Amino acid sequence: MKDAIAILDFGSQYTQLIARRVREAHVYCELFPWDAPAEDVLALAPRGFILSGGPASVYASDAPHLPAYVLERGLPVLGICYGMQLLAYHLGGHVARAEKREYGPAEVEFVGPEDPLLGNLKSRALSGCHSNLSVWMSHGDSIATPPSGFEVLARSANSPVAAMGDLARGFYGLQFHPEVVHTQHGDEILRSFAVDVCGCAPDWTPAAFIEQAVAAIGEQVGAGRVVCGLSGGVDSAVAATLVHRAVGDQLTCIFVNHGLLRRGEQEQVVRAFRDRGMHLVPVDATEEFLGALAGVTDPEQKRRIIGERFVRIFEQQAAKLDDGASRVRFLAQGTLYPDVIESAATGRDGAAVIKHHHNVGGLPKDMQFELVEPVRNLFKDEVRQIGKVLGLPHELIGRHPFPGPGLAVRIPGEITWERLETLRDADAIFLQELASSGWYDQVGQAFAVLLPEALSTGVAGDESRFGQTIVLRAVETDDFMTASPALLPYTLLTKVSTRILNEVDGITRVVYDLSTKPPATIEWL
Ligand code: XMP
Repeated sequence: MKDAIAILDFGSQYTQLIARRVREAHVYCELFPWDAPAEDVLALAPRGFILSGGPASVYASDAPHLPAYVLERGLPVLGICYGMQLLAYHLGGHVARAEKREYGPAEVEFVGPEDPLLGNLKSRALSGCHSNLSVWMSHGDSIATPPSGFEVLARSANSPVAAMGDLARGFYGLQFHPEVVHTQHGDEILRSFAVDVCGCAPDWTPAAFIEQAVAAIGEQVGAGRVVCGLSGGVDSAVAATLVHRAVGDQLTCIFVNHGLLRRGEQEQVVRAFRDRGMHLVPVDATEEFLGALAGVTDPEQKRRIIGERFVRIFEQQAAKLDDGASRVRFLAQGTLYPDVIESAATGRDGAAVIKHHHNVGGLPKDMQFELVEPVRNLFKDEVRQIGKVLGLPHELIGRHPFPGPGLAVRIPGEITWERLETLRDADAIFLQELASSGWYDQVGQAFAVLLPEALSTGVAGDESRFGQTIVLRAVETDDFMTASPALLPYTLLTKVSTRILNEVDGITRVVYDLSTKPPATIEWL
């Protein structure tokens, strides 16, 4: 079993970043909601716990509490912000209620003994490299008196206990957020916790992941047969390649054309995978999907219908592949960590489920398959690194994500063939122009959205007419959990706009979406 850290999520907006930083230090970790069943968390056999920040105050009656197993295991614990206050509160320290929140940059000064968490930074401070550390604070309550056994390790003007530690037990607390880039050397602090305090070997690399994943798939699947839904995106490509490595010809890839694809998509995907020696069956199910979506306007319902149809098609194809001797028992898919987090995990403590990504929330309950999801615990950029090591071509690795429900989540209201064709034309122009100007690889995801109501006036020749709107969306993002609008040049945007207005029938207006995530999401629906 690999060395791992368990991160308990108390609701901070930065929790995913803690996971990323720990993995960047080559230590495997997983995130769990704070009230996840103990056996789920302990099944990871963690060598230490990190308690995230969160919006609550330990004194609130409904505040998330510290699960008993965290202190009972005798393992190191790092509490960040709320996590630190929780640790202090449970161990008998005094948490002071805030008169006002402290939010933003602060300077902390190292004090107290040498310790393994801040050790490297402290010794560099003593040798004059820096005496203070710039950190990012975002808290209300703070620690007035640490619990007995703890020493103060750093302080700031507003927080007399900016860092504390019980060195004998390996319990540490930080009032500031080491996971955000605004905290200087924050990544080193998290690395020190995982490696020096918890003793994890920093051997979580793409090659190690591939070896473990291939072994795990082999064990799960045995001599069974697997179908894998390919979307053409990097996630399902990496999932399929890992399964192929593990079980070779026991895998059949299925590419479903649900009619909600972009221009030329099917041809591109089929070519790329056949070249890699995988058995690929393209299925044209356009009529079936569009029939099931007729009249449907609610986005969650669209996702459910599409998720269910996908599975029915995989079942039909699997039945065709059955040769009597071995049944197809497994469905492999490229579910990613953010899909899992956004669809389900955070729903537990009352936080809103953002949207059910169809490959997580939208699967029918009576599905016949057992799932194989080899990249379920990875972030997008990690999947790309794995893809590179697996030797996937750049055009596959560098492709922007394309959601399973396809263009259905890019047309508010009813999906019709005509609307899909309009959107495909506009989207193809946008993507072509991004590619030829060199911008495609510089943005995380880019696409067009069709607002199908004829809402705005246009003039064509001497005629005035109402027409539909195309929204262009391009975002910069590290992990698709947060995103900001890509600052594309006006010249490029106006070129795209002019082409769409001239070349796509029915469009009288083109606009650029400047919303950040949060509060908006990347897709419109
Ligand atoms: P949002 O819109 O939630 O998107 O900010 C984050 C990332 O997830 C993709 N996405 C989906 N992928 N099924 C998928 O397979 C879905 O239902 C789905 N919804 C969003 C989205 O394209 C972006 O990359």
